[in-house]
Amino acid sequence: MKLSERIGKVPPYIFVQISRKIAAKKAEGIEVISFGIGDPDIPTPSNILDALHEASLDPPNHRYPESEGLPEFRQSVADWYKRRFGVTLDPETEVLSLIGAKEGIGHAAFCFIDPGDIALVPDPGYPVYGIGTLFAGGSSYIMPLTEDNNWLPDFEAIPRTVADKATVMWLNYPNNPTGAIADKQFFDRAVKFAKDYNIAVMHDACYTEVAYDGYQPPSFLEVDGAKDVGLEFHSLSKSYNMTGWRIGMVAGNQEMISALLTIKSNLDSGVAQAVQHMAIEGLRQTDESIEARNSVYQSRRDRIIPVLRDMGMRVIPPKASLYIWAGIPDGYTSAEFAEKVLDDTDVLMIPGGSYGEAGEGYVRLSVTLSDSLIDTALERLAGWQG
Ligand SMILES: Cc1ncc(COP(=O)(O)O)c(C=O)c1O
Repeated sequence: MKLSERIGKVPPYIFVQISRKIAAKKAEGIEVISFGIGDPDIPTPSNILDALHEASLDPPNHRYPESEGLPEFRQSVADWYKRRFGVTLDPETEVLSLIGAKEGIGHAAFCFIDPGDIALVPDPGYPVYGIGTLFAGGSSYIMPLTEDNNWLPDFEAIPRTVADKATVMWLNYPNNPTGAIADKQFFDRAVKFAKDYNIAVMHDACYTEVAYDGYQPPSFLEVDGAKDVGLEFHSLSKSYNMTGWRIGMVAGNQEMISALLTIKSNLDSGVAQAVQHMAIEGLRQTDESIEARNSVYQSRRDRIIPVLRDMGMRVIPPKASLYIWAGIPDGYTSAEFAEKVLDDTDVLMIPGGSYGEAGEGYVRLSVTLSDSLIDTALERLAGWQG
């Protein structure tokens, strides 16, 4: 059997050693508590589940959906954008449903990248930007995100020759893994840079509804000219505790939306209609219910951080996202540090290096563990001194 070259090019899983350790511990009957994946432990709200039940009884929803999504789903996305961000969208031409944002991000690479093209990819970052680029035959030019620059890319540092060849730039705020946020001035600069070099901006906004301390993350599409150059990806996964149902959406430039629909309609058949009805119900949800959920995450954030600081870690409390991004003590790589903590305490944190080289020196912890598991984890971590 001959596997394609692109399969061989997928970078090895740098987490292998730690995964082996976890498996060995499990085999010994030790329960590892993982601050790993950002997968909400809080169930999907009951009104959204009721919408699923009702929609499941309607036979038209048992049939193939359309790739672009139901008109009423796209309308509810447009209504939500208007209410939440003050952004006007044409639901006919500027919105698509996605089988989760991951699907849309992966497929979008095929719209804007030909073999030999360059994509501007943040590091540390969600791995799908680089992998999508690789699958489309392009190469990633890494935009390092650093603490000194508040985890924002420095457009000035991108060489002209690279910017001239770049066809797409990936951005993600609130950010995974750093928890960093971006303001509208930053998005303005991104639009200007994209216009200067004719680059498509793909903004991944999956975490705009997970925010703390009263902060309300903006949309990229709020700034002038954003719709001329970009798309914004959203997900119901984190906003409404719906990771398992697989639904998201993309909004923005008409021509780009149409290109993505060309790819999608040839490769997938859309989101189950009953699940689209869940999303319609979710997007109608009041801001208070989102705030109530966020206050649970916020109190977890505030319980975890002091323990990490006692362990010698540097932490700035995130204003948004599901993640605490903590600077590790000197003398370890992020993988060595995560491994040592795992060995000593049976608690797992994700090494920052697994999100790219610029993630070295940090670990990521997700706040999506139940309160009782967090209690046990914090007891295990308390007093750890390396
Ligand atoms: C930055 C970012 N984008 C996209 C996704 C995927 O979202 P979805 O569940 O909608 O595919 C994730 C999931 O962790 C993420 O962290």
